Amino acid sequence: MVRILFCLTLIQGVSMKIVRMTMLSLLLLMVALPTYAAGRLTLYCSPQIGWCELMVNEFEKRTGINVRMTRKSSGETLAQIRAEKSNPKGDVWWGGTGDPHLQAAEEGLTQAYTSSKFGELNDWAKAPHKATGGKTVGIYMGGLGFGFNTELLAKKNLPEPKCWKDLLHTAYKGEIQMANPNTSGTAYTTLATMVQLFGEDGGFDYMKSLHRNINQYTKSGSAPIKSAARGENTIGIVFMHDAVTQGVKGMPIQTVAPCEGTGYEIGSMSIIKGARNLDSAKKWVDFALTADVQSMAGSVKAYQVPSNKNATVPKEAPDVSSIKLIDYDHARYGSKSVRSGLLAKWDRDVKPLPR
Ligand code: F6P
Repeated sequence: MVRILFCLTLIQGVSMKIVRMTMLSLLLLMVALPTYAAGRLTLYCSPQIGWCELMVNEFEKRTGINVRMTRKSSGETLAQIRAEKSNPKGDVWWGGTGDPHLQAAEEGLTQAYTSSKFGELNDWAKAPHKATGGKTVGIYMGGLGFGFNTELLAKKNLPEPKCWKDLLHTAYKGEIQMANPNTSGTAYTTLATMVQLFGEDGGFDYMKSLHRNINQYTKSGSAPIKSAARGENTIGIVFMHDAVTQGVKGMPIQTVAPCEGTGYEIGSMSIIKGARNLDSAKKWVDFALTADVQSMAGSVKAYQVPSNKNATVPKEAPDVSSIKLIDYDHARYGSKSVRSGLLAKWDRDVKPLPR
């Protein structure tokens, strides 16, 4: 009898425990539900990782939408979106040079959206939107150049390079780094800039001579100036704002706006076609074009010029009005035929040459 009573008490205890656990789970579910209901977003991010992280945190704070972000270079992201075409995994591609965004639009990999913030943008940021029927839009701008480690240059007794042509001098053999134009938008902008400055034959002659002085082609565009800052490389061909960042961090890096003039990027943003979280993607686009959001970039030492006219331009940002910018033909050099053609030619005629 005592044993039966003991068993009954035990069963009662266990079922109370189950009831309590079920109620607790329901409660937790109710607490978690608003976060889930607010949505998700898968973001492909191509600018500086610190800026990507800042944007994600701020967006999550303002909207409650949960963001999964990965950072990859511009050309790499285009390749990934293309590979995922039949089963898109990303929702928005934020940042990176405009050329692969234009190519993505032409290949039907992205979709049109016009943000309510569109009217607040500079004309250069509206241009890619107009050229693609709304499939991509400008978020920042930055001029191409190079930077060098002042201490290494002095130690090696090398002259200060001021022009693109200076970089071809034999004294710089093994002292220069740039990225691979297939993966990096910075390096593709370099290739397209040389072609626009010196003509197609002259541009490729330039790239071939430069190749002799290159110690390494990196995957990411800003890597060459980061290694110069660490003293592992002397000169890095990069966007000027990336060189300025290293100087502001206290590294011995001097930024150069090349004397012949230079190309520039219109950093862009696109919604991926077939985005699973389209509403969240549109909210991201609105958010990323907002003046006070763009004004936050300087806090993570990102010194591009913002596209919203009301955003604050960081005081450290290279003054594009004092730099000789070429009339860079973004539409032409972002078209599939021209971009793919130049890359194939670089792979065939430049990359395999001995150094
Ligand atoms: O580091 C920032 C940045 O220079 C952006 O301005 C630019 O759009 C992006 O990097 C290009 O990166 P990558 O050359 O690696 O594609």
